[in-house]
Amino acid sequence: MALPPDLRFLVRPDAAGGGLRGRLRVPGDKSISHRAIMLGAIAEGDTHIEGFLEGADALATLRAFRRLGVAIEGPDAGRVLIHGVGLRGLRAPDGPLEMGNSGTSMRLLAGLLAGQCFATALTGDDSLSRRPMRRVTEPLALMGAHIEASATGTAPLHIHPVAGLTGLDYRLPVASAQVKSSLLLAGLYAAGETCITEPAPTRDHTELMLAGFGYPVCRQGPRVCLTGSGSGGGRLIGGRLQVPADISSAAFFLVGASIAPGSDLTLTGVGINPTRLGVINILRAMGADIELSGERTAAGEPLADLRVRAAPLRGIAIPVDQVPLAIDEFPALFIAAACAAGETVLTGAEELRVKESDRIAVMAAGLATLGIAAEPRPDGIRIVGGAIGSGTIAAHGDHRIAMSFAMAGLRAAGPIEIHDCANVETSFPGFARLAAAAGLAIEESWV
Ligand code: S3P
Repeated sequence: MALPPDLRFLVRPDAAGGGLRGRLRVPGDKSISHRAIMLGAIAEGDTHIEGFLEGADALATLRAFRRLGVAIEGPDAGRVLIHGVGLRGLRAPDGPLEMGNSGTSMRLLAGLLAGQCFATALTGDDSLSRRPMRRVTEPLALMGAHIEASATGTAPLHIHPVAGLTGLDYRLPVASAQVKSSLLLAGLYAAGETCITEPAPTRDHTELMLAGFGYPVCRQGPRVCLTGSGSGGGRLIGGRLQVPADISSAAFFLVGASIAPGSDLTLTGVGINPTRLGVINILRAMGADIELSGERTAAGEPLADLRVRAAPLRGIAIPVDQVPLAIDEFPALFIAAACAAGETVLTGAEELRVKESDRIAVMAAGLATLGIAAEPRPDGIRIVGGAIGSGTIAAHGDHRIAMSFAMAGLRAAGPIEIHDCANVETSFPGFARLAAAAGLAIEESWV
């Protein structure tokens, strides 16, 4: 039997020694792109999005809403026009909604669809079908939702219509923006008030965007509340929305330019929401030279241009409060740690084990292949900086693992071959081209 085609990255060492240079814009923010489609769909009137991420994950959300009866034009060079149907205007789809690799689509849609008057089924690829869904199905059940999952609490999810949802006062057991957002979206359809308390701050794009669409959200410290629309909580009104460049995609370049001598790179229009700034805080604590300029705001989200120059890095104990603020950036940060002097220790990050892959195990294995001492632990890792060798890495279909090891090539003694990279398309279409333009010697090919 023929094996499925494998997208391979081949990265050669930085022979010219110039590092990463120039000025570039990484694609739009994935989290914000998902939410723009979701809220635009259930708003009244048209929503014009610019800078939308045309990656497979956000496109899965876009396609799901088309199947739910929403007319959506585009995407065309990042522009999307949504003809919103209002909170009660979604229609039953003609079959299961395919979420691909996208945890955000599945978890947020579970909440948004729990209070509809029709049934839906949400399916995902192998990786998504292994990820924990009880973190959303259990609190949604407390609101009155009827959602069936597999015996182990995973997708596919079958959402059955119920007479109505009731608001919930809930303390999140794990710091998760996806769970918080899922419950807030269900709360739009629930009677009374829904309040969520987080154990630590997580990305607040849902809260900011709801407010941007005119839906009142009350935030007090770690607690966020809204009242269901049927209880007079409000409505969403369509408008214009500019998606900033994704700091999670910028992260690969922040690390690459920090570790590669000679680098001087500017990343333009990057979202710098404080709930996403962990990667900059951690890299700066390691000695990175990152300068912010041109700070501005678009659709309630702060953005800036980031200039990063090569700098000697040193290992650190990563502060636990930075973990939720850098949750997607650890694969890239582990490459920075591998190039730093001394040891870097991460704790309190067991969530990394249930991302698109087990990012602690997969990164530790890849770093070991390259000759770096990396000791995985249940809730983190210890990495001792050293000389990066060469070798063949398995990305396990995880986009962020693939892009992180690509950046390791900038400091490697020989070529690094990375397999199973096709899912880079989920968050960063055009990564290899953009990285090559900045100076990374990378080739991609189907093998
Ligand atoms: C996301 C939240 C994070 C992050 C994911 C996107 C979101 O997940 O890892 O890539 O858009 O809300 P958790 O909230 O589950 O940590």
